[in-house]
Order: sequence, then C-alpha cells, then structure tokens
Amino acid sequence: MDSATTLPFTLSPSTSPVPPQRRAEILANPGFGRVFTDNMVVIRYEEGKGWHDARVQPYAPLSLDPAAAVLHYAQEIFEGMKAYRTAEGHITLFRPQANAARFRKSAERLAMAQVPEDLFVEAVRQLVRIDAAWVPGNPDESLYIRPYMIASETFLGVKPAAQYLFMVIASPVGAYFGEEAVSVWVSDFCRAAPGGTGEAKCGGNYAASLMAQQEAKGHGCAQVLFLDAVERRWIEEMGGMNVFFVFDDGSIATPPLTGTILRGITRDSLLTLARGMGLTVREERYAIDQLYADAASGRLKEVFACGTAAVVSPIGRFRGHRGEAVIGTGAGIGPVTEKLRNALIGIQRGTAPDPHGWVERVL
Ligand code: PLP
Ligand code: COI
Repeated sequence: MDSATTLPFTLSPSTSPVPPQRRAEILANPGFGRVFTDNMVVIRYEEGKGWHDARVQPYAPLSLDPAAAVLHYAQEIFEGMKAYRTAEGHITLFRPQANAARFRKSAERLAMAQVPEDLFVEAVRQLVRIDAAWVPGNPDESLYIRPYMIASETFLGVKPAAQYLFMVIASPVGAYFGEEAVSVWVSDFCRAAPGGTGEAKCGGNYAASLMAQQEAKGHGCAQVLFLDAVERRWIEEMGGMNVFFVFDDGSIATPPLTGTILRGITRDSLLTLARGMGLTVREERYAIDQLYADAASGRLKEVFACGTAAVVSPIGRFRGHRGEAVIGTGAGIGPVTEKLRNALIGIQRGTAPDPHGWVERVL
C-alpha cells in the first residue's frame, strides 16, 4: 500500500449551493439516485507519488481525457453506504470500515491502487459533514453515499493504470422498492463465474447484469436472480442485493460466500442479528428447483432481498422458465423478515441499542 493512511483535505465547497427552499422540496420526495448534494470529494493517485491532493469541492462534471483507461477497459470500482439522521438530529454512518475494507479488496481484484481504509472513511465523513443539510430526516430516507474509483491514466495499452481518481458523491434517497413484495425473475444469464470478479464491487459486474435486468422488467419483475455459472442450479444473489430464505421450522438460510457473490454488509449484519435472536442460521447452497418445490409444499415461508439500497425487502414470487413460485401469500412482509428488518433499522436509525458497535456518529 502506497502513501499516508490519511491526508489533509483542502476545503473549497460550493459557493452556490442549492437554496434551502429547493433542497426541502427535493428532500420531501427524493426518489433514488437522481439528485446529488452540493459537493463531492476528489483524491488523486499517481504511481510513485501515492495518494495526494484530497479536496472537498463543488459537485460538477469531470474532465477526462477520451483515452482515460476507465473508458476503455472498465477499471472502476464503487461502494454503496448510507448516512442517517437520528431522532436527536445526529448524523451517523453504518459500519463504514466494512465498506472501506471491501473497497480495498475490490481494488486489489481490479489491480487498482488501494485507498487506505482510514482515508476512505475520512473522505466519507468530510462529505457528510459538509453536506449534512442533505441528510433526510424521514424514517425511510437517508443520504446514499457512493465512493468510487476510476483509472484516469491516458493510455490505450491494456495494463493496470498508473493514475486513479477516488471520489465520493452523495444523493438523498427514499425506499428503493415500494411497499409491496417484489417479483423476481430467475435469469438464464450468469452474473459471475468462479475465478471471475463476482465478489468485487466493480461496474463491469453491473454492466453484465443489465440485459438480465431488462428481461426481468419485460416479465413484470423488479429484480433478477442469478444462479451459479457452473451447474446453473444454485441460487447466488440478485442484481444488486443478497437473498435470504425463511423456512417453516423458523430457520433461515442464505447462499455461502464462495467468491462469486458480493460480501454484503447488510447480509453479514442480518446473520449476526438472527443468531442473536436465537434463530438457526445456515450459510448453505440452495437449489432453484428446491425453492420451487419448497414454495409449493409450504416449507419455504418467506424470502427477502437485502442490501444498502434495498434494506430488507420481501420477495413475493419468482418467475422464470420453470414457471412461477409464489412465496407465502405472495404479498406483504412475513413475520421473520419484519423482525429482522426492524432490528436492523432500529440500530441504523439509533432507536435501538448498538451492541456490536456498528454505528459511527459523524455529527
Ligand atoms: N449484492 C450486490 C450485487 C450488490 O450490488 C449489493 C449492494 O451493494 C449487495 C449484494 C448488498 O451489499 P450491501 O449489503 O453491502 O449493500
Ligand atoms: C447498494 O445497495 O449500494 C447497491 O450498490 C445496489 C444498487 C442496486 C444501488
């Protein structure tokens, strides 16, 4: 790892922020990911020089050379995390060190410069502090934070770049899905193969998932479920979230971390919370044919998706070339899903104790 573990930040924030009245209108109905705060963080890397020139500056378009490596070979990684406004008016982050660690692993897999974890978290704190007025206060809302890194070197040779930009932007967001249980399309496309980049949070994984996502929409589904690439049988994860199953004996299961799925921080947190509730928890493979059989027999009671954007969202049905599997009544949220969701949200929003030390107060 090159350079200091953190850096001094030059603060030159926007001198023409969105007026408070307009910001209040946006925060009243933020949607997801279309509106951004007044500022951004930009930090540069150059081989031999390390990380330098950390700035908090106005949110604005980038100027990139048309031959910048990211535009050709997709050397890009990102993270997704949220800042919350508590009832007391504090602003908090949820497990930011976990995002920093995952970002470092993604960088390693994409042969990119590694952002020191302390620098990553400090960059996030800097942006959240300066744009604190953008953190919504309503229960389902938060400030979605998107740290990311691109290869900025001007060069068309295929090799790891020698220059990078690490940036952080933020967007006030509401719920990713509506209230209803979502329908999920079981794709025949694969997202990730053993030895590939499935475990890294790189833009290329998402580009490769879009055709499947488009197909899902065409079948009236909000999300896509991917199976493993070798046997086309084992459930892996969704386009942008992990998946959990709740059985009639009260146990819960989620696919294991075999290298082809993202190591979700929400997934990890829910496993810890479920164990703390005394639930039997399994990280084990679950075959799609078994899901159809268990949905039909009633053994499978609830299924939910989880992730930073989705939080915990019930899945009501699966569709695909095997036909349709309806989970429970196909609507609403099941009791175990709701209990886990409330436990997680309680900690994230500061309405419940934080026994695992997951919450960091920023302001
Ligand atoms: N899986 C994929 C493919 C994702 O994009 C995400 C979202 O970040 C997740 C799982 C859930 O990860 P986390 O809970 O860390 O947000
Ligand atoms: C996240 O939850 O942070 C993601 O990256 C998923 C995406 C659907 C927004």
